[in-house]
Amino acid sequence: MENVKIKDKEFALFIPETKILEQIGRVAEEINRDLADKNPLFVCVLNGSFMFAADLMKRVNISSEISFVKLSSYKGTSSTGKLKELIGLQEDIEGRSVVIVEDIVDTGHTMVSVIEQLKQKNPADVRVATLLYKPNALKVELKLDYVAMEIPNDFILGYGLDYDGYGRNLSDIYKIVG
Ligand code: IMP
Ligand code: MG
Repeated sequence: MENVKIKDKEFALFIPETKILEQIGRVAEEINRDLADKNPLFVCVLNGSFMFAADLMKRVNISSEISFVKLSSYKGTSSTGKLKELIGLQEDIEGRSVVIVEDIVDTGHTMVSVIEQLKQKNPADVRVATLLYKPNALKVELKLDYVAMEIPNDFILGYGLDYDGYGRNLSDIYKIVG
């Protein structure tokens, strides 16, 4: 197993890029099938979702638009619980089908907050597409429409996800060791 050291921590290869892309392909097929006549707007949550968004959108072949928003940054290896405002959405989403594109759902607090903030703008409907989901960490009631991969509660990084800002550029996903 290939290991990487990021700042003070060691990480081991967990999900190779080939497997990530395979699961993203499956999610894209589901989206192409479900939303063919809905002309959705994909709202990608930066920074973590940038690689997922790119690989997902390359495989989405229906009429759609893509936009990027930002939230609070994630510090260290545990969720801060502090929720921040959704910024940067220029599009009018009233009456529109929206698909949130997120890197990971951990406790679910972030996703609930993003959904609430988008719903205040009266979209037709809001769906969630997440690359990763930690079902054992979920603390809220939340419906996830598209999940590429479910993972255990370990801290992970790579493929857009970071540890204190580093490791987002790795093309595979790594998990913390020790
Ligand atoms: P939640 O609000 O607890 O669901 O946290 C979601 C956010 O925490 C994600 O958008 C990530 O930015 C971050 N996060 C949660 N788990 C991890 C992880 O294992 N690695 C890196 N970031 C994570
Ligand atoms: Mg995130």
